[in-house]
Amino acid sequence: MTGDDSREEPTANETGTPVPDGGAAGADDVALDPWGSSSVSDYRKLFEEFGIEEFDEVLEEVPNPHYLMRRGVIFGHRDYRPVAEALQNDEPAAVLSGFMPTGDPHIGHKLVFDEIIWHQQQGADAYGLIADLEANSARGMSWEEIDEHARDYLLSLLALGFDPEEGELYRQSENRELQDLAFELGAEANFSEFQAIYGFDGETDVSHMQSVVTQMADILYPQLEEPKPTVIPVGPDQDPHVRLARDLAERMRFFKVSEAYASFELEDEERALVAAFYEELEPAEFDDDTLRCTHVADALAETPLADLETDADTLSSVLTKLEEAGMEPVRPRTRFFDRRATEDAFDALIDAIDGEKRVYENHIDAFEIDRAEAEELAREIEVDNGGYGFQPPSSIYHRFMTGLTGGKMSSSVPASHISLLDDPEEGYNKVKSATTGGRETAEEQREKGGKADECPVYELYAYLLSGDDDEFAKEVYDECVGGERLCGGCKEQAAELMREFLAEHQEKRDEVEELLEETDIELESPRRR
Ligand code: TRP
Ligand code: SF4
Repeated sequence: MTGDDSREEPTANETGTPVPDGGAAGADDVALDPWGSSSVSDYRKLFEEFGIEEFDEVLEEVPNPHYLMRRGVIFGHRDYRPVAEALQNDEPAAVLSGFMPTGDPHIGHKLVFDEIIWHQQQGADAYGLIADLEANSARGMSWEEIDEHARDYLLSLLALGFDPEEGELYRQSENRELQDLAFELGAEANFSEFQAIYGFDGETDVSHMQSVVTQMADILYPQLEEPKPTVIPVGPDQDPHVRLARDLAERMRFFKVSEAYASFELEDEERALVAAFYEELEPAEFDDDTLRCTHVADALAETPLADLETDADTLSSVLTKLEEAGMEPVRPRTRFFDRRATEDAFDALIDAIDGEKRVYENHIDAFEIDRAEAEELAREIEVDNGGYGFQPPSSIYHRFMTGLTGGKMSSSVPASHISLLDDPEEGYNKVKSATTGGRETAEEQREKGGKADECPVYELYAYLLSGDDDEFAKEVYDECVGGERLCGGCKEQAAELMREFLAEHQEKRDEVEELLEETDIELESPRRR
């Protein structure tokens, strides 16, 4: 870790009005907008407002963590633990990310390429896709442009080490299975939801909406053959997509497993109340040694609201349910709710449940299996009966790189970023002219030290130029903030490393031309209009 955890990108809010994410973000707040400005002013808000978790929290469970993980460049995740565990135990796992071929691949995309490749090297099934439908519908790119850029993305991905024999490359427009899945997923989503999540309105064209269901299908595509933990490495702007995909994965499931205490359904908060009283009350204290719904209702009603960890509405609704159930005994059970199961699957599940069970119209209650067993059984029955059994996809999020000219790195401002296709000399020059976190004078720098945390050049070292060498990255950081390093020499060193990196990368790109021709991916779209 090189300490850039609390840094803020200075111009993050200068990029125009962010489209609020489902109304969750105010004008000045973090907005997660897949098609808007991809900058984040305050990463902490992503944890607080959007429920993204800190990557550090799961880092220890990751075998051979990548340097981007170690250095906090990958700063957040959603539900990454199952993926880490699968890698750890050599169990099936997958990694997938997609690229909109709207321009040259640049050093920001390299982060994602590296993330895919690293997961592949750790044993995950790896997928790289070209989001050509999205580029065409959301960005208005022509098919000709798309083909050109797609090729460049793929060459860089291969040059950096993606193994196309082990992994899969595809473009959205040419993948029929993907489109079939997109169609199915579309049946579980509706326009109001898109409106709330993406700010779509009456002017949004339908193809753009179709590109969203296509991305949902991309994200679940690695699980078509069998359910497995899947990670989607992306920037945090893609988080709305990840959340929707997680929702849709759940909605596609045949059964929903929950815990219940009697024949009626309980909301989570209500369940917690009943659970607490179930633990507390002794059946022996009641007439026939049986704890009944009405007893729990009485005990609840006698407890002052202030002593319960709930609100008045929850209390009143749980009371109603308990009173209506009256003399029904309270017994914990695992419930399989039939959400979309076929009749055969429902019957198969009934047969498969061991021990005492009760079958209702839309659910089955099992008294002798626990929640985890039940989840496993539900998935097994689903898969055996033609369902997907999707696991909710996981994600990891990397920080956006600061532009070399300060502000955000933007494909439309060439000096702000380094394209993987830049002439090595041009790359050298861009680094040499970059903004730094240095002080006004050398004297001041020696005295106070540089501001490595606000320095795009330091970022280059941490994100790319140091490679796997943590020692080196740390040395640059310490020397900078310690005042031993001055910007002139520091930039010269970075510029030379960049020149070297680009020359080497481009050489590798030439070498993998043939490899690309051998892959199945369609390099030329038959579409031209
Ligand atoms: N929407 C992504 C972007 O703007 C591209 C993309 C398409 C993607 N499908 C995906 C990313 C699936 C991750 C996973 O760059
Ligand atoms: Fe940035 Fe290097 Fe200057 Fe430090 S010495 S502020 S890392 S350019």
